[in-house]
Amino acid sequence: MTEPQAALDNLSTETRTFPPSEEFAAQANATAALYEEAAADREAFWAQQAERLSWDTRWDQVLDWSEAPFAKWFVGGKLNVAYNCVDRHVESGHGDQVAIHWEGEPGDSRAITYADLQREVSKAANALTELGVGAEDRVAIYMPMVPEAIFAMLACARVGAMHSVVFGGFSAEALRTRIEDSQAKLVITTDGQYRRGNPAALKPAVDEAVANAKSVEHVLVVKRTSTDVDWAEGRDLWWHDVVDRQSDQHTPEAFDSEHPLFILYTSGTTGKPKGILHTSGGYLTQVAYTHHNVFDLKPDTDVYWCTADIGWVTGHSYIVYGPLANRVTQVVYEGTPNTPHEGRHWEIVQKYGVSIYYTAPTLIRTFMKWGADIPAKYDLSSLRVLGSVGEPINPEAWIWYRETIGAGKTPVVDTWWQTETGAIMISPLPGATSAKPGSAQRPLPGIGAKVVDDQGNEVPHGGGGYLVLDQPWPGMLRGIWGDEERYRDTYWSRFSEQGYYFAGDGAKYDADGDIWLLGRVDDVMNVSGHRISTTEVESALVSHPTVAEAAVVGASDPTTGQGIVAFVILRGGVAEGSDGAEAIKALREHVAKEIGPIAKPRQIMVVPELPKTRSGKIMRRLLRDVAENRQVGDVTTLADSSVMDLISSGLKSGA
Ligand code: WTA
Repeated sequence: MTEPQAALDNLSTETRTFPPSEEFAAQANATAALYEEAAADREAFWAQQAERLSWDTRWDQVLDWSEAPFAKWFVGGKLNVAYNCVDRHVESGHGDQVAIHWEGEPGDSRAITYADLQREVSKAANALTELGVGAEDRVAIYMPMVPEAIFAMLACARVGAMHSVVFGGFSAEALRTRIEDSQAKLVITTDGQYRRGNPAALKPAVDEAVANAKSVEHVLVVKRTSTDVDWAEGRDLWWHDVVDRQSDQHTPEAFDSEHPLFILYTSGTTGKPKGILHTSGGYLTQVAYTHHNVFDLKPDTDVYWCTADIGWVTGHSYIVYGPLANRVTQVVYEGTPNTPHEGRHWEIVQKYGVSIYYTAPTLIRTFMKWGADIPAKYDLSSLRVLGSVGEPINPEAWIWYRETIGAGKTPVVDTWWQTETGAIMISPLPGATSAKPGSAQRPLPGIGAKVVDDQGNEVPHGGGGYLVLDQPWPGMLRGIWGDEERYRDTYWSRFSEQGYYFAGDGAKYDADGDIWLLGRVDDVMNVSGHRISTTEVESALVSHPTVAEAAVVGASDPTTGQGIVAFVILRGGVAEGSDGAEAIKALREHVAKEIGPIAKPRQIMVVPELPKTRSGKIMRRLLRDVAENRQVGDVTTLADSSVMDLISSGLKSGA
């Protein structure tokens, strides 16, 4: 584990604060009173938040923590998650309200009302039933950002099946391991997807992934790009053949509050991704509560846009479940931010009058690079709340975001949370918090978070250490799919005495007790807000026949937060007369094939040796020094202290 003290070297000296305007505060959903309410009686507070939902059967106990760390929230309660996100809004007279303004990459668009959504989700649910998919079956969803992806997720929720959404940028191999681990019965995909203006086939990756998957009975394919695809008769089915002919009436069944809702795979410190398990009542309560208060959502007037992909947890919680439970009108955009031009996001903000915009620091820094003159060409006056998620936002980017996109007046909410937490945990409240650029500040009302030292003692103001969550919360993960031990080990063993959840992030308190996140303290990298483990990339590298050994580190990167830098020892070394460029190119392609293009190393360095301790552990700290062009640190614990000289002198690197 990296000492958080190292990360503390980057301590921000930022002191500016931005209190909410009086005007904003006066109309805000959440005031400072919310903290007091939650502090007075935490469980009563969460029970009150659960009233946001429509329950078929009320719960008889708010929290059962008797089998910690396995929580049960709203015990005995029953509800249907899809009904809560769709039908009840139609029943309350909002069937004609647009739920989704969908914008395709090539410029096609669809406006989907809540009544449309109810019909589409009902048809898809009927199709799932016809295909034999029922409660607790797993459905893998491997799709671009098309409306059918959202229909599919809600249809699963409606029939009690669990979805496992796999990011469309992941490789066939990554999809295969996730299908295998979850034993998915059905895979839903598209023929192809638009990527930077061009259609690219997607189904071939599914064909490869399911070739030997015994669990998979059918592959349901949405036609998006009309790309030619291979067809396995009997197994493959077109969405338009199977779903379109279904009845658009479907009666939702109420499931237990703890009924599993989805699995979402995320990187951990080992090579094998973890299937994070989330359930129904508590999860939906917290995503709805946080979405309402952190973004100050006014369902009758706001137009909300979260730019995440549904392949990540942000897409699950803040495109699908939280916003739809709150009867949002939202924009869903299929494509990349620079297709066909670098003003695409601002053009969309202007077109739909987007008022709440939620994105990642890496994109904000990219916009900064493209220049302020691009957003200046558009009318962004509809924006009133800006959000950030995925990695620490540097004060410079925060200020740029507020000044350039938010006209110097919109609150910016820096939201800290994880796939595991299910929903936002630490964030300012836009109408109540005096915001500090670069700090996520306080745990939300009802949430407990602390910064502790190695022994689990809370550090004083001004001190740094590890971020822990000291109270169970409704949206918390209920385990790792199929691996109870790994769940206990990963999150609960580090501070088992205190019973704290170990988040894996370093953090500090400033003099006011506000929390500043400092990045991961484990072997997880954060590249453009995507979690990728060093071991995952190392395993991919050593699976290539030319590689004898590999070590991977995350080096700081001005745009992506971290960039992946790999050190490899090649079998038989580099061929005489070659600079290794060919070998390096092949390795980058290999990693893309094993995991996905997002995991391609920014740089691969061919080295003769790797720095190891006497017990054989690779000292990544030293490699990080090399990757970040720093003076190499203390080498005294190396088994052979001359190794670093050997590495530094003989570097053959390639980008
Ligand atoms: C990082 C994304 C600082 C953190 C929702 C966490 C952040 C990991 C922030 C989870 C933030 C996320 N400030 N760091 N506002 N938000 N992180 O599971 O390291 O993809 O542990 O969930 O992203 O990433 P995940």
